[in-house]
Amino acid sequence: MDPVRNPYAPGAGQRPPELAGRDRELEAFEVVLERVARARPERSLVLTGLRGVGKTVLLNALRSQALGRLWGTGKIEARPDQSIRRPVAAALHMAVRELAPHHRAPERIDAFLGVLKAFALRSTPSGAKLRDRWQPGIDVPAASGRADSGDIEIDLVELFTDAASVATDVGTGIALFIDEMQDVSPDDVSALCAACHELSQLGAPLIVVGAGLPHLPAVLSAAKSYSERLFRYQRIDRLDRIAADQALVAPAAREQVEYQPKALDALYEKSGGYPYFVQAYGKATWDHAPRSPVSAADVEVAAPEAEAELAVGFFGSRYERATPAEREYMRAMASLAPDLETDGAVATAEIARALERKPTSLSPARDALIKKGLIYSGERGTVAFTVPHFGRYLRTQPA
Ligand SMILES: Nc1ncnc2c1ncn2[C@@H]1O[C@H](COP(=O)(O)OP(=O)(O)OP(=O)(O)O)[C@@H](O)[C@H]1O
Ligand SMILES: [Mg+2]
Repeated sequence: MDPVRNPYAPGAGQRPPELAGRDRELEAFEVVLERVARARPERSLVLTGLRGVGKTVLLNALRSQALGRLWGTGKIEARPDQSIRRPVAAALHMAVRELAPHHRAPERIDAFLGVLKAFALRSTPSGAKLRDRWQPGIDVPAASGRADSGDIEIDLVELFTDAASVATDVGTGIALFIDEMQDVSPDDVSALCAACHELSQLGAPLIVVGAGLPHLPAVLSAAKSYSERLFRYQRIDRLDRIAADQALVAPAAREQVEYQPKALDALYEKSGGYPYFVQAYGKATWDHAPRSPVSAADVEVAAPEAEAELAVGFFGSRYERATPAEREYMRAMASLAPDLETDGAVATAEIARALERKPTSLSPARDALIKKGLIYSGERGTVAFTVPHFGRYLRTQPA
């Protein structure tokens, strides 16, 4: 069928034509927004899940929800080895700019921007050189004596408190979204938790909404033991059959295209309900199907193309990022997978045995793979792939 009208959108963070199966999360966030704006005690959300399940897309949807209630919003994508100071400053700058038109006292906004600038320009001694070249793009002079101590925890508390008070003036709140939150450095995570804790005790309307890999709760509780009470963790998983069908059928219906039931059976069998795969198989099937209704045979014809594209774009691009030693480690993981469908967690001791190596000699490879976001350790002494179907992919690759 006409590829120009193809509605499906495989790709990192690509907005799907239909956000299927996430009503529960959207409704929960509605309640959070309402309660926080009324200064009621409320835990913020943290979304966790494997690669390609739709965390970024959902985070963006939550952001739209907040914007719809006239909240100020900003978003950062954390990177390993990067301080959150500048990204957070830029995100809050954006959030306050969104609130400014509703605010009656421009001097209050300017006062906040002065604090924000001081916060942004304050860097650790190692960042001092950058300081001169980098400008935060804020047109007011930097204030002094607030959010500029250099201690990220103190500074975040002060900055968040001031940002929240601007939002209080206009009767809404500020939501700061942090994607890939597992990559925030331990000091910064600890400071973020402390700041959220402080703000929630004050009933100040500023929340941090995070998204990250399945071990993010462990990262947060390693930083602050009370993080479990600070955040509500929502596991974002593959779509169930009904939601996966909806993700395919609803966008097609808008183009007057239908699926035969057997075509949907075949598509679910191949995608396993993983959102990225739903989009990838849906897209290839649309391009190959000669006409509506789409049949199971159309799916079979299209599947190799979808798989070839996933092999390059979804699996291959990640495999490429690994060194030879790391690849060997992942291959051993794949060969030991307890479940050929979902892979599952593998004991690190078993990997060492399979590779005939001492467990300690494999730690660097394991740690590097965790840092690259390719594997995670959900339970002590085990590792699992962050990428769904990665084990299956590796088992089909020649050594
Ligand atoms: N609820 C949904 N219904 C249908 N398609 C979805 C849904 N959520 C996400 N998708 C699609 O799945 C793909 C992956 O989404 P996204 O990039 O948000 O995943 P992610 O969890 O952030 O992955 P990563 O961990 O790699 O960043 C996109 O093509 C998106 O359009
Ligand atoms: Mg993402």
